[in-house]
Amino acid sequence: MDWHTWHDDYDRPDSVLARRLRAVQERIRLALDACPPGPLLTVSMCAGQGRDLLGVLPEHPRREDVTARLVELDPRNAALAEQAADRAGLQRVEVVVGDASLTSHYAGMVPADLVLVCGVFGNITDEDVERTITYCRQLCKQGGTLVWTRHRKVPDLAPQICHWLEERDFERQWLSEPDAGFGVGAHRFNGEPQPLSPGASMFTFVGYDALARGDGHQSRS
Ligand SMILES: C[S@@+](CC[C@H](N)C(=O)[O-])C[C@H]1O[C@@H](n2cnc3c(N)ncnc32)[C@H](O)[C@@H]1O
Repeated sequence: MDWHTWHDDYDRPDSVLARRLRAVQERIRLALDACPPGPLLTVSMCAGQGRDLLGVLPEHPRREDVTARLVELDPRNAALAEQAADRAGLQRVEVVVGDASLTSHYAGMVPADLVLVCGVFGNITDEDVERTITYCRQLCKQGGTLVWTRHRKVPDLAPQICHWLEERDFERQWLSEPDAGFGVGAHRFNGEPQPLSPGASMFTFVGYDALARGDGHQSRS
């Protein structure tokens, strides 16, 4: 999978991906609207070109309050995210080229007001989805929002994701309709944030194509 060209569908306004992006952006906008006054922290896991956050922040009234860290492995995507942030004058948006599964990349930025896990849950095993959700208790502030995505193809994991989140004190704010063609969820964390585990790996990014071939279960020992 070329994760740079994967983003091209965002430029086709009627594509599923573009519609998903608009849903994610709306959840980000609403989450920022609801944040308390003062400085805000945001982290984005496997951030790609950052089109979700960077499509909202430039025009959002809280833009100067937000310090964000986007973690993305592909340097081409990271460079585009960095350029978009620079163009918008968002000096507190940092783009890190690295493995977003590593908790160490979030040190000093969590627990955050807004945690973005978009384009991740469809690319990792179900076991790692649950494991990553458990780690989200280290990433999300009490009262903070987790915005996540997952395709709704059969077998549809979204209801199970909601269940795993609810078991861990994440309260559902919104879930896209089952027939939307994509899955986007927003959950508010009502629990006590856990301390960040140093040096942990939350998931192995397998890729949806490799998962469909059944490769994923060999990836985590
Ligand atoms: C499906 S895309 C989602 C991008 C973005 N979050 C979005 O929703 O537009 C997945 C992204 O994860 C990146 N990626 C893959 N493995 C990664 C890893 N281990 N750490 C960080 N990023 C990774 C890919 O380069 C790609 O940009």
